[in-house]
Amino acid sequence: MRFLPTAARLGHSLNTRCIQNFAYSTLAPPIVETLQNPPPSNSLITVNGHIKSLRYSKNVGFIDISDGSSSKTLNVVFLSPDKVLERNRFKVGQSLSVTGRWIESRGKQAYEVQYNLDNPEHQIKIMGDVPEDYPIQKKTHSLQFLRTLPTLRHRTSTLASILRFRSKVESHLTDFFNHNHFVKVTPPLITSSDCEGAGEQFQVESLKKVSSKGDEFFGKPANLTVSTQLHLEVLAQSLNRVWTLTPCFRAEDSNTNRHLSEFWMLEVEVCYIDRLQQLTALTEAMVRHVVKAMRSDKASFFDLTEARFNKDEAARINERWETVLSPEAWPSMTYSEAVEIINKVKCKGRSKGRMEWGDSISTEQEKWLAGEYFKSPVFVTDYPAEQKPFYMPPSSEGVLVSGKPTVSCFDLIMPDIGELVGGSMRQSDHNKLLEEMKRREMNTAEIDWYLSTRLNGSVPHGGFGMGFERLIAYLGAMENIKDVTAFPRASGLCEC
Ligand code: 4AD
Repeated sequence: MRFLPTAARLGHSLNTRCIQNFAYSTLAPPIVETLQNPPPSNSLITVNGHIKSLRYSKNVGFIDISDGSSSKTLNVVFLSPDKVLERNRFKVGQSLSVTGRWIESRGKQAYEVQYNLDNPEHQIKIMGDVPEDYPIQKKTHSLQFLRTLPTLRHRTSTLASILRFRSKVESHLTDFFNHNHFVKVTPPLITSSDCEGAGEQFQVESLKKVSSKGDEFFGKPANLTVSTQLHLEVLAQSLNRVWTLTPCFRAEDSNTNRHLSEFWMLEVEVCYIDRLQQLTALTEAMVRHVVKAMRSDKASFFDLTEARFNKDEAARINERWETVLSPEAWPSMTYSEAVEIINKVKCKGRSKGRMEWGDSISTEQEKWLAGEYFKSPVFVTDYPAEQKPFYMPPSSEGVLVSGKPTVSCFDLIMPDIGELVGGSMRQSDHNKLLEEMKRREMNTAEIDWYLSTRLNGSVPHGGFGMGFERLIAYLGAMENIKDVTAFPRASGLCEC
């Protein structure tokens, strides 16, 4: 009996799942699908994937196949290894298509594929060969070494599982925003404005000069976006609640394990709010939702943790998820209170370094505050105005330290990684916004399109941006965000 794909076996008719069914009925089932819906024992089945490992004795041979759809591999078992290996020169890394008998296994896994050389229906086809020095072998490779293999590293269990995890997290975030009536929007990535005003933009120019437009393709300087916030603010005024997940680009020359030149930012903008606490509550609910959803999806949790050879890492994932899901609401304090704690409290006999009011809280201090002092994600609010961009309004009364202007903003600080989210209320009053821009000696003409929103039915609003790679690195217990993005870009790093 030949194994039919799921939809055909279940006899699905056209219904709301018809697109999914169509895919299943025409595409070769991936290993994850075969394992989740195993065909009947003894049916004929075809599996495709790369050889992960290969071993044989005198009487029997085993090939472990992985197609990247699951951290689980499929075992192909064959008798008469001398004859099989005479016909096929198997090597780790080759891509194979194997047709054989699906049987219950006597080994660790529930099922295996039995290939019988003498059965004319059975087949092994090497679809793609590899060179003798194929670098990914069955042993632990350091993540640093794997970064030197930009086109192959995703074939390792850990990095493949992180990309699957990333995909799941995105879909849980989509559920969260759909459920809460947010519209997913698509702001531009090429812009003539510098949202954060930090001068970290990459400029966009055409290689071909377009004479009709003068020297510049867009007729003015254009850059890759550092944050889509300004455009999201425009869209929120029309749609009430919006969100997006897009690449952002920053020419920061800091080659750290938490900075990329091209990273993905999840950004949110909400209208008709007047308190910062509404934004921090939304942020907390969003991150908690992702972890709860991942927790209840046992298969995905298993997929992520099973792919780690080091069991301490699997434990760390669990620990971090528990930290996020703590029964108490995450603590929140102002910048001034955080400075006081950092200056007063000693940790293991050592102070976390003296700070003057107005200094930036360093990454090390952030990690200490969240990881050691509170042992929880922490919101720090109301930073000094001079540390933040032009669009943030003054803090609400009651949090002002006399004579020291602060703004209505927050950072979400996580244990181990520091800042994950940055957000604020937005100045919605035209004159106040203009005044602040002039105080900062900004070119107001360049951003008049943004200012104009404050003259056309402006509404109170606010929002935030979350570094997506930082979220994945934290929840997936990865040290370096270069390992949670498929093709990392950083200063001096753009290999392909
Ligand atoms: O705090 P940031 O700079 O905030 C903004 O850009 C706001 N305009 C967002 C908004 O309110 N819509 O960046 C937001 C987050 C940071 O907290 C950090 O997690 C991440 O983006 N981030 C980076 N991630 C990786 N590599 C970099 N170079 C990053 N720079 C910021």
